[in-house]
Amino acid sequence: MVAMKVLMVCLGNICRSPIAEGILREKSNNQGLSFETDSAGTSSYHVGEAPDARMRSTAKANGVDIDDLRARQFDVSDFDSFDIIYAMDTSNYNNIVALARDENDKEKVKMILNEIKPGANEAVPDPYYGGDEGFQHVFDLLDAATDKIIEKYG
Ligand code: 4NP
Repeated sequence: MVAMKVLMVCLGNICRSPIAEGILREKSNNQGLSFETDSAGTSSYHVGEAPDARMRSTAKANGVDIDDLRARQFDVSDFDSFDIIYAMDTSNYNNIVALARDENDKEKVKMILNEIKPGANEAVPDPYYGGDEGFQHVFDLLDAATDKIIEKYG
């Protein structure tokens, strides 16, 4: 079976999108599904870095290991490599769509929380400048969204 190729995108690729990738990868592996997963940032600020230590520890506390992931910047070639591109917030969404070459590229870009609240265009809040509880909230939102993704495409 051909894998569904899913790219998760946030700003830095060190907090929200790597945990989204990690949760989907974990569930896909555990359930014997064939998702291909990756993540990227719209910015180049943290290219080459591991996910934020707070995100890695929240991941581990919830049974997900993202220590192997490294940040990279979104590239226009990602429109060819992936079937769906999930943005974490409207700023990410607009930045990705601005790089779309045609309607087909544009249609691949979705707001990830629309999987749990269709059409609401809600953001996964950026936890970078907040306290530790923000990371668990991000985990919980993306745990729910990835369940829906698996229901739809798994
Ligand atoms: P992320 O969080 O987009 O979820 O990875 C951020 C990480 C770093 C920065 C902003 C957001 N930063 O400005 O360095």
